[in-house]
Amino acid sequence: METYHIPVLLNEAVDGLNIRPGGIFVDVTFGGGGHSREILKRLNGTGSLYGFDQDDEAEKNAPTDKSFTFIGSNFRYLSNFMDWNGVEKIDGLLADLGVSWRHFDDETRGFSFRFDGNLDMRMNRQSAKTAADVLNTYPEKTLADIFYRYGELKNSRAIAGAIIRAREIRTVSDFQNILKPFFSREKEKKQMAQAFQALRIEVNDELEALKEMLLQATGLLKSGGRLAVISYHSLEDRPVKNFFKTGNFEGVVQKDFYGNVLAPFRLINNKVIVPCREETEKNPRSRSAKLRIAEKL
Ligand SMILES: C[S@@+](CC[C@H](N)C(=O)[O-])C[C@H]1O[C@@H](n2cnc3c(N)ncnc32)[C@H](O)[C@@H]1O
Repeated sequence: METYHIPVLLNEAVDGLNIRPGGIFVDVTFGGGGHSREILKRLNGTGSLYGFDQDDEAEKNAPTDKSFTFIGSNFRYLSNFMDWNGVEKIDGLLADLGVSWRHFDDETRGFSFRFDGNLDMRMNRQSAKTAADVLNTYPEKTLADIFYRYGELKNSRAIAGAIIRAREIRTVSDFQNILKPFFSREKEKKQMAQAFQALRIEVNDELEALKEMLLQATGLLKSGGRLAVISYHSLEDRPVKNFFKTGNFEGVVQKDFYGNVLAPFRLINNKVIVPCREETEKNPRSRSAKLRIAEKL
């Protein structure tokens, strides 16, 4: 059987949650359940762990442990589901952002340009909008903004124009053929990955969902509770870093009347934690991972 996912920064992230028996924890990106299983091990039959994943496929990885509850939902509805489960406060929350290996390696999902197939890219297959829908229906200017902001592609306007002219777009190779003339041979793979990432972020509304979840997590955490976030690119890492430092996504430091900094967190690691060489050699996909941990004041 193919590997669903190999957890990244497993011990570093779970250590960061400071797990004590009897605690209430949330893994908002359950995936293959690697981090969740480690959390359950440390809870040792006590407390509770709630695992969110918006991809219904992830549920089949759910452990049979009385402390564990799987929630098949987007983590942007964190507060609602905690409320529904009668949870008022939590001791820690882990987010391991983005997609799983399973997504990249499943040729039917359209996340990777290693395979041809429908240009889908939805993590939640019940949601209405596929990647092809985005390319076929969005205005040219919006598409240009997406490739510029989420893909950091300089020729995003020209790319958007070519997309409009190529409509109807259905498959991964349709999209690749539109992009190819814009990329030099040496940079093609990297820029193709940036374009695919941009589209994926839009289809799944990843950055807005992240911000909504972080705000709700702040309200749910007990004083002394921990928030651990693993991100894989700067568009995710920047809002997390700003939020941990200042309590807002822009990173604007706010002070009270006496000049004391007003922030909801204390940083556990000032310097971002990255995988060690041994981990990146074993699992090259972990290379871009960055872990930040904060404690609620
Ligand atoms: C990087 S993987 C997590 C892997 C997991 N830590 C493990 O050890 O197997 C991210 C997972 O989070 C899910 N996910 C991403 N964004 C989500 C969101 N907004 N709401 C719920 N699940 C999300 C994806 O479907 C994917 O399964």
